[in-house]
Amino acid sequence: MTFFEKVALAPPDPILGLTAAFEKDPRPEKVNLGVGLYKTQDLRTPVLGCVKAAEAALLDLEKSKEYLPIDGEPHYLDLMGDLVFGKEMWSKEKKRIACFETVGGTGALKIGGTFLKQEAEHPIWISTPSWPNHRGVFADCGLKVESYPYYDFKSHQLDFKNMMDCFEKLPGGTIVVLHASCHNPTGCDPSPEQWKAICSCFKKNKLIPFFDFAYQGFGVGIEEDAEAIRHFLQNDLEFLAAVSNAKNFALYGERAGCLFIVSRSANIAEHITSRVKQMIRTNYSNPPMHGARIIGSILENSSLKKKWEGELGEMRNRIHTMRIELNDRLMKRCKTVDFTHLKKGRGMFGFTGLSKQQVERIIDQYAVYMTSDGRINVCGLNQDNLDYVVDSILAVSK
Ligand SMILES: Cc1ncc(COP(=O)(O)O)c(C=O)c1O
Repeated sequence: MTFFEKVALAPPDPILGLTAAFEKDPRPEKVNLGVGLYKTQDLRTPVLGCVKAAEAALLDLEKSKEYLPIDGEPHYLDLMGDLVFGKEMWSKEKKRIACFETVGGTGALKIGGTFLKQEAEHPIWISTPSWPNHRGVFADCGLKVESYPYYDFKSHQLDFKNMMDCFEKLPGGTIVVLHASCHNPTGCDPSPEQWKAICSCFKKNKLIPFFDFAYQGFGVGIEEDAEAIRHFLQNDLEFLAAVSNAKNFALYGERAGCLFIVSRSANIAEHITSRVKQMIRTNYSNPPMHGARIIGSILENSSLKKKWEGELGEMRNRIHTMRIELNDRLMKRCKTVDFTHLKKGRGMFGFTGLSKQQVERIIDQYAVYMTSDGRINVCGLNQDNLDYVVDSILAVSK
């Protein structure tokens, strides 16, 4: 046997595997509701106009492709601090916040998880359900991954009582992953009052939140979507926040993202920075440059920033419209199943309520692709395929 002959085949990634199956499907009526990308009405994921403009200017102005510092592009990080925490709070509190540009949001989760494993070695709790990669990323950091109740699959609402009961029982120092907005996969977020209750509970029980913030601007708005994180900062909690710019700048492949670690003092932040930089250095040495520079150029320039806010608003509006239309068309045709959660949800994702067997049927018989738990990305819908998708969901629901 040769050295590599004993390498076993890994199972396919559930979401990327679905896209591969969709691509191979010859049926012209096929619809892909399984992807994790924003799509326009004509089902494309184009480069934003503000990004094109920023890239054109960069091409002219950029003088060097020298390595970035280990913790990344400082200008980008400063502007991202403004965006996530709000200008006023960021300038007041930034000294005690360690920040790192990372390889996308996944890189931020991985670096944060590795840091937590090294420093604390406490278990990490993720929601049921959660973004499928959370478990893999944190397990790969060597952390013990547990899960807390989050979603009531029957009523399609936040399972607030059971979630809080679980949090109340966790020992101090437990790390808990919270989706800051647009929960993936449910689309169901806590209300502002519920966030306040979560924050009080975390403060009282000394739990450490690890926010995953992958959809700022996709829910209600840029400022509104950041309210939960800002509330925790105002209330003096220590926490981590992994931020992705894949969706809100449509910079998926540029792998732009950052990690914030909020501590109690500038001195502690300095220690954290030194430890995390050491980890980054031995991992990928320093982060990629292009995505961070694009975002920096947009956020520092008031007219480009305005353009970005407009383009992000268009994405958000299309998501809302598809949610409403899907719900309304389903509810018009089906009086026995309640789909209103699809309309109320935030962000691209939501549950159809279809079982695993029904999902298999909708793929086999109608070429409508979604993940096996019945999650859909409403961006796969448009005016041309909506009725077909509604017919297919109702046909397999019988
Ligand atoms: C909840 C959540 N966190 C993190 C990520 C990862 O983002 P990135 O592509 O920037 O690594 C995603 C991407 O789909 C996500 O949905």
